[in-house]
Amino acid sequence: MPLTDSTALIIRRFQSDDLAAVLRIEQLSFDADAWPEIDFRNLAEDDAVLFLIGKRGIELVAYVIAWLVDGEGYIANLAVHPGVRGQKIGRSMVERIIADLISRGADDLALHVNENNHAAIRLYESLGFRTVEETPDYYEDGSAGLLMWRPV
Ligand SMILES: CC(C)(COP(=O)(O)OP(=O)(O)OC[C@H]1O[C@@H](n2cnc3c(N)ncnc32)[C@H](O)[C@@H]1OP(=O)(O)O)[C@@H](O)C(=O)NCCC(=O)NCCS
Repeated sequence: MPLTDSTALIIRRFQSDDLAAVLRIEQLSFDADAWPEIDFRNLAEDDAVLFLIGKRGIELVAYVIAWLVDGEGYIANLAVHPGVRGQKIGRSMVERIIADLISRGADDLALHVNENNHAAIRLYESLGFRTVEETPDYYEDGSAGLLMWRPV
């Protein structure tokens, strides 16, 4: 089936046979900061973790990972395949996981983002997140990490 911009995005829980495609997108997206395979395997087995993937047609194009600790929903990872960015997939993934976190009882939401990641910062700001803390040298290349937060 040809993949067009109008092919519907289906969001569902991660399954083990999604792993190879997730790892590929992770490497393409984060390079030196990419999480190792074992982290994804461990998170996939943890019932407290929300691990969602997005598919368009047969292609896995995105994933998002979050968890809830003491009422705070933390969005730990998000990536969209570079070939299909700018088509509202990232926004759809974040909106869906926020809705899931809220339905599990989140009172507020948080995440970390690289200070130089303007696309992601803009996405999160458009969803109501604001920077509340900056941690120097948070990423492999020495970039600062911004802690972004919003109430539910
Ligand atoms: C950040 C990322 C997930 C966005 O996904 P996407 O599907 O391309 O984004 P969307 O099309 O849903 O865009 C949503 C919003 O993000 C912002 N945005 C997305 N791409 C942007 C760009 N190139 N420049 C500026 N803002 C951008 C805009 O605010 C956009 O809203 P708009 O289209 O109404 O203006 C994607 O770029 C990605 O996977 N990047 C690499 C991994 C990463 O940085 N993950 C986040 C870690 S915290």
